[in-house]
Amino acid sequence: MRPVVTIDRIGEHAGQEVEVRGWLYNVRSSGALHFLLVRDGTGLLQAVAARSELPAEVFEEAGALTQESAIVVSGPVRDDRRAPGGHELSLRELRVVQRAEPYPITPKEHGIEFLMDHRHLWLRSSRQWAIMRVRAEVERAMCDYLDDAGYLRMDAPILTPSACEGTTTLFATPYFDATAYLTQSGQLYNEAAAAAQGRVYCFGPVFRAEKSKTRRHLTEFWMLEPEAAYLDLDGCMALAEGLVVAVVRRVLDRRRRELEVLKRDLAPLEAVRPPFPRITYDEAVERLRQQGSSIAWGEDFGGDEETVLSRLYDRPVFVHRYPARCKAFYMRPDPERPEVVLGADLLAPEGYGEIVGGGERIHDRALLERRLEEAHLPRAEYAWYLDLRRYGSVPHSGFGIGVERTVAWLCGLDHVRETIPFPRTINRLYP
Ligand code: 4AD
Ligand code: MG
Repeated sequence: MRPVVTIDRIGEHAGQEVEVRGWLYNVRSSGALHFLLVRDGTGLLQAVAARSELPAEVFEEAGALTQESAIVVSGPVRDDRRAPGGHELSLRELRVVQRAEPYPITPKEHGIEFLMDHRHLWLRSSRQWAIMRVRAEVERAMCDYLDDAGYLRMDAPILTPSACEGTTTLFATPYFDATAYLTQSGQLYNEAAAAAQGRVYCFGPVFRAEKSKTRRHLTEFWMLEPEAAYLDLDGCMALAEGLVVAVVRRVLDRRRRELEVLKRDLAPLEAVRPPFPRITYDEAVERLRQQGSSIAWGEDFGGDEETVLSRLYDRPVFVHRYPARCKAFYMRPDPERPEVVLGADLLAPEGYGEIVGGGERIHDRALLERRLEEAHLPRAEYAWYLDLRRYGSVPHSGFGIGVERTVAWLCGLDHVRETIPFPRTINRLYP
């Protein structure tokens, strides 16, 4: 019996007859030979059909296959350094499971809107294949890092009664006789979880009705959020640094082939080593002005400022102690300088900008009540959150790291829309 094998393991079967089940990625012909490029999700394999070795009708059928036809190919495996993947299959048998209709995505160039309209098919192309594999590795590496550091995964709800990151980007949905909002962040629930378990994280999709059309914004994205009791801002930055270093190493280690498919320059990723520089917001403003920016103290950084800052360093850089007015209501003011908060963003290098946001939370009840009022947030909806400040309240910190922005950086992409299987933006809900 000939074994059914996947392309990633075909090297173990050199000299043997095998069966491979997949799809036709491309075909090239030279009179007496057809070169079928077969993909099966684990890699690409060249199957060579020779006129001299096959019945005439099989040879004809191989040459007339359409792109993306579902096929099963069988034959002996040969080592061949020139072939993609280093191996080749000499076609002996061909079974056409489904002959594909003319495929809309051809090797020629297509516009981004056309490709996004065909996202369900575009995912099969080598580049998208590689990105999705990096994404899966990033997600796994992030969770592994926190699991190993003693953090317990405790998932947060998606339907929520109130805002975490500001009321302007909430998606509302009818909830029986009331209104629910899709979560913007699991943080508030994480804080309750951290008081129960010490160190926790949640990981899931979050939603923001972002009206911005930038290369960094989606309306649905995935965020990993650790939260720990008795952790201060420095500890929080150290945790984010350790996590990011571990994720970069893991991708370099296990997804090098995919980064090569993406033609990613590996040198800047190899340079990502601790310690990451930590600069204050004040210092960042100074650096920006030196670079010709006219930003005033107190203004939040936009994509442009982050791009400029992140190009100044060869590794990710923390910017901490932002003006309180730029940040969310829960951020703890610096006791030595209450106009700034004990929060930090981590900016990825090469112009990518913010991938992490977090810091210390207010643990004093009276202060938190004042901040809720200043932010015009209804106290009643946050009663449970205020409770956390009444029963064993301790200093605590946490952060959120965005999967898509991290993947865009690691893959060297110029837009986050290719980092998630089915992106959602202000003008895209299909497919
Ligand atoms: O800085 P943000 O808004 O922080 C929070 O939501 C905190 N409550 C997290 C926490 O402390 N537990 O978002 C965190 C990260 C950003 O640094 C960015 O990587 C990503 O989430 N992010 C987005 N990614 C894609 N599209 C968007 N619209 C994003 N908004 C934030
Ligand atoms: Mg942020």
